[in-house]
Amino acid sequence: MMLPSLITLLTLGSMATAAPTARARDVVSRRLLIGGPSQILTANFNGSSFEITGKNVTAGTAPSWMRLKASTNTLYAVDENSNSLNQFKFDDITSGEFAYASSVTGSSGVVFLEFNKDKTRLVGAAYGSAMIDVWDVSADGAPKLLKQIKVEGPLGPNQQAHHPHQALLDPTGRFIILPDLGGDQLLVLDTKDDKYEITETITLFPGAGPRHGGFITSGDKTFYTVACELSNKVILYGLDYTGDGLAFKEISTQSTYGAQFPPANATSAAAGAVAIANNKDVYISNRLSGNETDSIAHFVFNANTTSLTFSNTVSSHGILPRDISLSIDEDQSLLFVANQAGDNGLVALRRCPVSGKLDANPVATKPFTELIALGLENEPNVGPQFVQEI
Ligand SMILES: *[C@@H]1O[C@H](CO)[C@@H](O)[C@H](O)[C@H]1NC(C)=O
Ligand SMILES: *[C@@H]1O[C@H](CO)[C@@H](O)[C@H](O)[C@H]1NC(C)=O
Ligand SMILES: *[C@@H]1O[C@H](CO)[C@@H](O)[C@H](O)[C@H]1NC(C)=O
Ligand SMILES: *[C@@H]1O[C@H](CO)[C@@H](O)[C@H](O)[C@H]1NC(C)=O
Ligand SMILES: *[C@@H]1O[C@H](CO)[C@@H](O)[C@H](O)[C@H]1NC(C)=O
Repeated sequence: MMLPSLITLLTLGSMATAAPTARARDVVSRRLLIGGPSQILTANFNGSSFEITGKNVTAGTAPSWMRLKASTNTLYAVDENSNSLNQFKFDDITSGEFAYASSVTGSSGVVFLEFNKDKTRLVGAAYGSAMIDVWDVSADGAPKLLKQIKVEGPLGPNQQAHHPHQALLDPTGRFIILPDLGGDQLLVLDTKDDKYEITETITLFPGAGPRHGGFITSGDKTFYTVACELSNKVILYGLDYTGDGLAFKEISTQSTYGAQFPPANATSAAAGAVAIANNKDVYISNRLSGNETDSIAHFVFNANTTSLTFSNTVSSHGILPRDISLSIDEDQSLLFVANQAGDNGLVALRRCPVSGKLDANPVATKPFTELIALGLENEPNVGPQFVQEI
């Protein structure tokens, strides 16, 4: 017993003298923003563990999506359970501490926020009320509601309402694309000259249920890929910018699970979030698969053949990975996962910057039990719904 521990001590001692340069190079402190039932958290991630640095706990709220405007240190947070858009302020983002600033009222059930190109407008996708909100956020104060657009058109099979699920600004900074889960359609919102009008609707196959998408650019070509929650399909489109319009050309439709790894329960399976790295690597969270844990699928876009090909799948190390997002270093070397249930609420997975493959063994995890708001201990699926490095 004595000898091994002495050797261990000596080894550690010699490592400690050699360590500072290695540490300085390898250890990057990252700041994360986390949202979930009743709370907003900030955390430091030092490469091996997550440490909570700030929080706002408000019973009954669901800040499931947020956007930070760095120029004013303002955080805009949805409350999926009400019609409030809440603002918070950071004195200094590096501290992780933030304070509540104000609330304004728009449509209810907003689940996603997106800025326009110069961050003077904020667009909200209101899943819960089939509306699109357009806010003026040009001033450093409470947002002003400029416009509310009702989502219209035929509904998908067995759907009772339209459900805009995401609003994502395209690479040109002119159009915002909104997948409508209830209407099996994609909506194109034109931001030019402050118009904010739906100029195009793209119809998907009945029962598609589009949820979250992402853009890929290659040379002068642009592509859009969308993960469909109700059908567990990922669709790849080529985009054509035609003067004032945006045309979608479908290239492929395939399972978000790939061909080899079907969900154990196809009835509950519900594709979730999309993250795209390097204009090539497409990651999709597959939720409620019925397997022991849920998973993150990796697809590779090949610009030469304009194809999207399934690569592999890794465990999300939890259940219901509602959100996934990439670290903000140049290599986007990590993928963060927010699991609403299962053992691990937060997970960091290493990503190979060349192949795009995710390492199946996490770099770090944080138990679900350490990530739920006080009072929700006995409720299901109350883990993180949103994670992003800021
Ligand atoms: C990260 O923080 C944890 C907890 O404080 C600590 O045990 C660990 O050594 C730190 N890791 C690094 C790489 O600094
Ligand atoms: C936390 O945020 C809510 C808005 O969601 C706000 O009403 C409340 O005052 C904030 N709490 C604190 C302690 O700042
Ligand atoms: C999930 O379960 C199904 C059916 O048991 C199996 O075919 C599939 O390979 C599993 N997925 C993974 C990622 O292990
Ligand atoms: C599959 O999911 C459905 C819908 O959630 C559920 O009703 C059913 O019990 C599940 N089947 C199994 C075998 O767990
Ligand atoms: C695409 O084509 C270029 C030029 O021929 C080649 O260098 C590159 O490796 C190809 N990429 C893939 C993914 O096949």
